[in-house]
Amino acid sequence: MSRLTDLIAQAKSKDSDLGRELEREFKALTNRRAFGLNFERHRPESVELPGRPVRKGDKVRVLPPRGETTKGDQRLWKVRSLSGKGTERVAQLELIGAAESETQDVAVADLIVIVEFREYIYPGLVSTGKVERGGDKPYHTVINGENFHALEALTFTHRGSIDVIYIDPPYNSGAKDWKYNNDYVEKEDLYRHSKWLAFMERRLLVASQLINKQDGVLIVAIDDKEVARLGLLLEQVFPDAEIDMVTTVINPRGKYRKGRFARCEDYLYFLTFGSAEVQGEPDPDFAEGAAISWRTLRRSDITSARGTKKGGTGQFYPIYVDDSGRIESIGQPLEHGIDRNSAPSKDGCIAVFPMRDDGTEMNWGLTAPSLKKLLKDGYVRVGRATPNKPQKYEISYLTSGRISDIQTGRATVTGKNRDGSVRAEYVTHKMKYPVTSWARLSHNAEVHGTELVKSLLGDKIFPYPKSLYAVEDCIRLFLGNKLDAVVLDFFSGSGTTAHATMLLNRKDGGRRQCISVTNNEVGADEGLELRKKGLRPGDDDWERWGICDYVTKPRIEAAITGRKPDGSSVDGVYDFDEDRPMADGYGENAEFFTLTYETPVAVNHNRAFARIAPLLWMRAGSEGRRIDAEPAEGWEVADTYGLLTNLDRAAPFCAGITAKEGIRIAYIVTDDERRFQAITRELPKGVEPVRLYESYLTNFRFAMGR
Ligand SMILES: C[S@@+](CC[C@H](N)C(=O)[O-])C[C@H]1O[C@@H](n2cnc3c(N)ncnc32)[C@H](O)[C@@H]1O
Repeated sequence: MSRLTDLIAQAKSKDSDLGRELEREFKALTNRRAFGLNFERHRPESVELPGRPVRKGDKVRVLPPRGETTKGDQRLWKVRSLSGKGTERVAQLELIGAAESETQDVAVADLIVIVEFREYIYPGLVSTGKVERGGDKPYHTVINGENFHALEALTFTHRGSIDVIYIDPPYNSGAKDWKYNNDYVEKEDLYRHSKWLAFMERRLLVASQLINKQDGVLIVAIDDKEVARLGLLLEQVFPDAEIDMVTTVINPRGKYRKGRFARCEDYLYFLTFGSAEVQGEPDPDFAEGAAISWRTLRRSDITSARGTKKGGTGQFYPIYVDDSGRIESIGQPLEHGIDRNSAPSKDGCIAVFPMRDDGTEMNWGLTAPSLKKLLKDGYVRVGRATPNKPQKYEISYLTSGRISDIQTGRATVTGKNRDGSVRAEYVTHKMKYPVTSWARLSHNAEVHGTELVKSLLGDKIFPYPKSLYAVEDCIRLFLGNKLDAVVLDFFSGSGTTAHATMLLNRKDGGRRQCISVTNNEVGADEGLELRKKGLRPGDDDWERWGICDYVTKPRIEAAITGRKPDGSSVDGVYDFDEDRPMADGYGENAEFFTLTYETPVAVNHNRAFARIAPLLWMRAGSEGRRIDAEPAEGWEVADTYGLLTNLDRAAPFCAGITAKEGIRIAYIVTDDERRFQAITRELPKGVEPVRLYESYLTNFRFAMGR
């Protein structure tokens, strides 16, 4: 070991980058678990930033010529200098990591900027539109961007404060459903699983900084391809969580796979933190107004037939039912072996014995004395006459649980039947804890996912959205009584989670908000077609087909406004929300953003501020007015936060904050810790002081992957 450490130190002194790289790999090897999930962390991920202007010092790739569908040169180049103007602009490039120096000049228009995950980034947000129908409610936000970087930005706005994270990541089906380092991961890729694990682990580690560890929940949807590995990964990344797994039928007909079981389900991991608890759900069998349920008195299971040990003794006796269908009396039990026809007969009555249709003698479910007691209280019911069957009447009774429902007032007796038995119905919902296996019609992904998205967007297609009601169930089970909760989905796809949050708000008047993050990728086939037409990522005619612009934002907008992108009303009803017309929309607000990558140098103050303004607003609750430009007065107070940029104006700033109700955060821009502390002492209780450095972007320098 010490020899290796020495060698690494030597390598570092010769080439610091190489030395650090070696050290990282060495640490990874020595930290390998003896037991558990071991996997290759792979080359650090990188992301292409189409449309980001090329600057000196950037890492870039050279794009293949327009119209070509090959991957082109995958090597990374560093921009040494730039010359020329406009379309003539040329970059002087040097190959990164080459033993022999290699340089070339390439038109800037043929370059794409690359950010490696372990580099520092300075994220910002640019608003690209909003929908407002929710009055003073908080805004749902949609961020178009690489989720790893968006998550990093959220560590400033939402550290430890997300109530529910719901994600439905790519399932790693091998069918070009996700990319690692800009490359689709295909079935034949030997590292397919470890790439997926490395991809997920990086994001989950950042997400773990966002989840509210007091009582937050992380929900991950997955199918059979990665369910086992994901389970182990979640245990390793979140050792302090309770983990439950639910099996949920989303395609009742099953997916045909030759020679194999037709798969019909998905899996949901629920990770609960701190005091988070799943809430009970109204039991449909005990819904308000539902009639109380009766149990058949005859034992059903053959091992409880007459004369069996399990069936007990004393439970084979006649029940005398008169002509009017009332129980006249209950007879004496017959010893096993005694012919039932030898039981005494009664005038005008039929002796009913527990008999199967095939003539098998069974037992009643209660002894004669117990039944007599229930009969007195009206808890035994005579059902249909069945003269052609061996048992001449159906008989049922109320179990002790149902009797207790009546006695405790959960169910009320509304009258009596002709036979003297009670009629009772539930006055309040009875709750039950959801079980770990779900087969709910409302979770059908085809009907309430694909079809529902089609109703909202016309002919636009999104592959495999979740059922709206399935996601609503997931979040409601934990947020039923958290009306101000914050939900996050960083693989949001078509935006089902935001829609489900709005649906839940509609049902119970909540003010919950959802943050949706998704990239703007186009499908594999679509990408190929666009390339053939000479288009490239970053071109307007390419980007408009991307998921975020083409599906996520329009879907959320259509759900709120009740209007499709073409302006017509959305047809159809919400099947599991009282059949409400979808055209009614929701009283909610949403704002759409694109994640930007700023450089700390060469950015002027005002622009830097404009890009972080949405982050300040989000941290204060994504509610009310936003301060979008540096305040001319040196301070400003919006609806939920205030901003002080000129410390000499601290007095009116603090007075302004004190005068306004509902202020949560006071942002104070200063590099001077002592003056910052002095101002915080003047702020009212309950207002969180947050210090920002004068060079704004340094507040937002992230490099989680380092
Ligand atoms: C399985 S889909 C989610 C579907 C969603 N639950 C719904 O109901 O529509 C996963 C989504 O994550 C997005 N995605 C995959 N990798 C991403 C990344 N690194 N950053 C941001 N989004 C990503 C994909 O664009 C895809 O739309």
